[in-house]
Amino acid sequence: MDKIRILGNHDLQLKGKVKISGAKNAVLPAIAASLLTREKIRLKNVPLVKDVFTILTLMKELGAEYHIKKNSLSVQIKKIRFEEASYELVRAMRASILVLGPLLARHGKAVVALPGGCAIGSRPIDLHIHGLEKLGALINLEHGYIQAEARRLHGKEIEFDKKTVGGTENLVMAASLAQGETILKNCSLEPEVANLCELLVKMGAKIDGIGQETIQIKGVEELGGATHEIIPDRIEAGTFLVAGALTRGNFTLSHMQPDHLDTVIEKLRYSGAKIERLNNHTLRVIGSPQIRPQDVTTSPYPGFPTDMQAQFIVLMTQAGGRSIITETIFDRRFSHINELLRLGASVEVFGDKAIVKGKTLLSGAETIAIDLRASASLVLAGLIASGETIINEVEHLDRGYEKIEEKLKSLGAPIQRIKDEEKG
Ligand code: UD1
Repeated sequence: MDKIRILGNHDLQLKGKVKISGAKNAVLPAIAASLLTREKIRLKNVPLVKDVFTILTLMKELGAEYHIKKNSLSVQIKKIRFEEASYELVRAMRASILVLGPLLARHGKAVVALPGGCAIGSRPIDLHIHGLEKLGALINLEHGYIQAEARRLHGKEIEFDKKTVGGTENLVMAASLAQGETILKNCSLEPEVANLCELLVKMGAKIDGIGQETIQIKGVEELGGATHEIIPDRIEAGTFLVAGALTRGNFTLSHMQPDHLDTVIEKLRYSGAKIERLNNHTLRVIGSPQIRPQDVTTSPYPGFPTDMQAQFIVLMTQAGGRSIITETIFDRRFSHINELLRLGASVEVFGDKAIVKGKTLLSGAETIAIDLRASASLVLAGLIASGETIINEVEHLDRGYEKIEEKLKSLGAPIQRIKDEEKG
């Protein structure tokens, strides 16, 4: 497996400009939505990250033909050939569960492996299953697989017990082809959910309440083709903003959507970073030599994203004082902390809280990451750690960041990828 090598130093300053890619978490449901029609779906601003290729492998097994040119993707499933998402694919990428709703709605049958435990906590899918059952699906869990059947789904009122991004997306897709009206309450407000709904509307779905907690869907008989732009990746942008704040950087981030990062920007400004809005799609970040400590609690959008928690902890290791970071979305999402300790950080975990004491001078070491955002946090730490940091198993990073080392290198970061074959 490839590694990343960073020759960091405490005085590194990133400078220049970086272009933000399309959102991984928006493109995955958009690709799954192509199961709802036999016509072609064309997606623009698609990030070429590993998770996209994983879901495309699954789509191909189900009967899709697809074509990628630069960051544009067309995908078409004239006929569903197979209705099973294997354990191998679901284990590689939990978001494979997003095919459950659309497959069932169009094809009347879906068999999807249960994701099981994953690196950031138990992550159940009960809300997806109960929602689909309420729409009339017969669901059995057998041999580690969800076996779902329904001749035609029927609209219902469903209130999620808890906010779930993937659950909302699965249910909106399924309800688009159900008979009658579905009202979904307590839906997730993440911009990626709204981006999916906008694609569905272009395909012919009748959806009201996009971007709100209550979404009404009037089911239609069939959906058609559409062309759709994927929104910018707010987590990639947030990761670069932290890189700027951490390195006393001075650079611009373009092709992004600043409004999707209000909470993160507010926290970064409070910590001392200057963040200027140059236009609706461009920000400049200027890091400060003095980083102020602060407490952060993750929560569903528009709150502070759990996907930015690991990166923010790295920033707080450089703040002058104590910060408490509380993780409320996922249990066991502190795997990065043991690795940060090896770089010299001072962090203690008590249940869902990480207590970070700054400022600590970090020193490079060999590390390993076990999930996507944990890997990103190690890259950030490596930039400001003195000497060499090696990040093993870069495939986690490749799941969700497009060309991260090239982008960081263009800002002046001393980072390189060591290809597996170059090792020995
Ligand atoms: C999505 C994102 C992920 C992000 C997460 C939270 C994608 C592909 N992934 O994941 O990057 O970290 O949102 O913002 O978009 N839950 C249940 N039962 C369910 C479903 C969820 O209890 O049926 C719980 C989860 O365990 C978790 C919380 O609800 O504690 C939120 O999970 P959810 O919003 O569903 O996350 P994902 O859609 O998996």
